[in-house]
Amino acid sequence: KKKLKEEIYEINRLAAIFYYKCLYSRSGQAALKYLYDRGIDDVTIKRFGLGYSPSSGLELLKYLKEHKYSIDTMVNAGLISKSNNGRFYDRFRNRVMFPIIDEKNNVIGFGGRVLDNMKPKYLNTPETIVFKKGKTLYGINYAKKTREDKFIIVEGYMDAIALYQSGIDNVVASLGTALTLEQGKLIKKYKNIVVISYDADEAGVEATIRGLNLLDELNLNVNILTVPNGKDPDEYVRKEGFDAFKKLLEKTDTLIEYKIKKYKQDLDLNNPADRIKYIKKVCKDLSTIKDKVKRDVYVSIVAKDAQIPENTIRAEIDQFVKGFV
Ligand code: GTP
Ligand code: MN
Ligand code: MN
Ligand code: MN
Ligand code: MN
Repeated sequence: KKKLKEEIYEINRLAAIFYYKCLYSRSGQAALKYLYDRGIDDVTIKRFGLGYSPSSGLELLKYLKEHKYSIDTMVNAGLISKSNNGRFYDRFRNRVMFPIIDEKNNVIGFGGRVLDNMKPKYLNTPETIVFKKGKTLYGINYAKKTREDKFIIVEGYMDAIALYQSGIDNVVASLGTALTLEQGKLIKKYKNIVVISYDADEAGVEATIRGLNLLDELNLNVNILTVPNGKDPDEYVRKEGFDAFKKLLEKTDTLIEYKIKKYKQDLDLNNPADRIKYIKKVCKDLSTIKDKVKRDVYVSIVAKDAQIPENTIRAEIDQFVKGFV
């Protein structure tokens, strides 16, 4: 008897093939047009195994039955759900489908996007014995093969896919905003350098700060790429192109630079009370930098910003450093 996990990988793969076929069938026309309108081409669709889940809610069920799978397996995989009246039906209906593939090339789950503005925008496979959302990085199956020395972390499926199509092969998506410790550890298995490129909206900025602290604590070298004009990486690369995104990649902020920028946005340096807050916050951050040269470069920047002598900054940093030992 096959192991339960193996059977779920297998049924998921079969479902992915079904969804892919549907995308290129009559019922998938609108979904295919949706992807084309978003700039996704056939090669990319195939590469990521994108698909379409028909709207009747009965077609995957029928297909899997024909392939002799039990209802139990379908339900355990999160593909089929039971309704209130006791009938079984497809979980994903009338959505663009994104198979989620792990490091070992197993199809562990799916994300499905509506074609319009209905909610929820994305529906995922529920937690199953093979799908734990917080342990998953979308795109890891391709990113792990990159020759680059770093991973770029984005929020969404479409960000990862659009960057990949433009020629960037070291991108993974955290599937929503809150990066977890498990995701951080998964990254660390492959790379020591990461670039966070989350959406420039409020949720994205908050998640960036949380994510970068988490990755910093794992001793990863973290950099932040801010996409201009409130766009997400997908929108940016589609509008401005690969070269423009590459330029942004060359102008990332380090952790400390990003924090300094953020403090300056939130505080008014012409106001003495805010200026004190600014100095204290930055000095605390700078006290964690071990490299004296690196630290001194920021000391001179902060001294100028806050209009106080460099030695005062150094003395304040020393306070924090002493406080640590
Ligand atoms: P597009 O509108 O297709 O470009 O999506 P997006 O990726 O830009 O969406 P957004 O920035 O809102 O969300 C980023 C990621 O969070 C998505 O790719 C999903 O993985 C996840 N997400 C967004 N909305 C939902 C939702 O309604 N439910 C769930 N479970 N996840 C969501
Ligand atoms: Mn959202
Ligand atoms: Mn967002
Ligand atoms: Mn988007
Ligand atoms: Mn987005």
